[in-house]
Amino acid sequence: MAHPLPRRDFLALSALAAAGLPAAAHSRPGQPEAGPAPNPGEPGDASRLKPVVIASGNGLAAVNKAMEMLRAGADPCDAVVNGVKIIEDDPNDNSVGYGGLPNEEGIVELDASVMHGPTHKAGAVASLRNIKNPAAVALLVLRKTNHALLVGEGALKFARSFGFAEENLLTEESRQAWLRWRANRGASDDWLDDNQTDDDKWGQQPVLGTATLRAAPGPGSTFLPGSSRELLLPGSTSPIPYTTGTVHCAALTAAGDLGATTSTSGLSWKIPGRVGDSPIIGAGMYVANDIGAAGATGRGESVIQNCGSFAVVQLMAAGQSPTEACLNVLKRIADRTLEKRHRDEQGRPKFNVTMYALRKDGAFGSACLWKGGSFAVHDGTQGRVIQSAYLYGKQ
Ligand code: GLY
Repeated sequence: MAHPLPRRDFLALSALAAAGLPAAAHSRPGQPEAGPAPNPGEPGDASRLKPVVIASGNGLAAVNKAMEMLRAGADPCDAVVNGVKIIEDDPNDNSVGYGGLPNEEGIVELDASVMHGPTHKAGAVASLRNIKNPAAVALLVLRKTNHALLVGEGALKFARSFGFAEENLLTEESRQAWLRWRANRGASDDWLDDNQTDDDKWGQQPVLGTATLRAAPGPGSTFLPGSSRELLLPGSTSPIPYTTGTVHCAALTAAGDLGATTSTSGLSWKIPGRVGDSPIIGAGMYVANDIGAAGATGRGESVIQNCGSFAVVQLMAAGQSPTEACLNVLKRIADRTLEKRHRDEQGRPKFNVTMYALRKDGAFGSACLWKGGSFAVHDGTQGRVIQSAYLYGKQ
């Protein structure tokens, strides 16, 4: 059962965050510490100029490109999709598009969504293989079909029909990372070992076709602090990369219209066919043209289970600032993370999620569960990367 934040704590946290003050002195074990909330662009901040573009921290090039297009009069969806294309095409970003880390079989599967404020239309693709720009395909779903989501083979055929070139999206670097993961995976995959399931919650009912026990982590393999998945091999200081990374980008035109997109290669080493939050409208991305736009990066399952982006937009509609809305949705996610395997000894989530919000009036904000996240902004002066607010400051 969820443990909603008592109203007084909620207000205290919001006030501290809005004031940019740490709340460590007020924190209890497992409770938020509340990091500095820079609150750029929030009410009273002179930086609220239109047009505005925000993106996840890996999206500086995306906000610059999107702003250039907005200034030339582009639709906000064209601006954000062309912005994230730069990240999708980048072989060095292993969380998105070309070079994205693959599923457990070594195949890159991409997810993306786009939403257009003025028409309230959405388009998305999931489990798309061999096409490195899923956001552009999602935009065509939005514009050329009566549907909102195409998956797998259907999405690929659709992309092919519009002339998208098929290519192997696995770079040599990603393939090597996958080979190392496969050789050392132990329990760091998405198949729950018997001691990781929540069988005590629903009784030890046998499941038809249940697999037999799986092996424990390989000898000497350790998981990084705060991570249940990133493997550090014996004698090595560089972990096998693991990512829930993603790129999100949202734009507000000078006329006050919004558009947003989220694009990802999803959870690395995922079970083939796994779909994260990025292509789920209301989870990884959402736009309401009269209120604002929101997006998410990080552990998609948690964002889906809490309708993360929709919730941020709803909280902004209720009067919260973008940063407050992000922080409070993260607090919900933390409170509703009940599985032991996802909680540390203090009951805090062992994963990260970052939320991003752009309000109709140009105010913007971002927050993450764990300190260290950032977001990119272009508010008409120049593109820059800013630290996100956070709930938990230290592990
Ligand atoms: N947020 C990206 C994913 O979980 O797929």
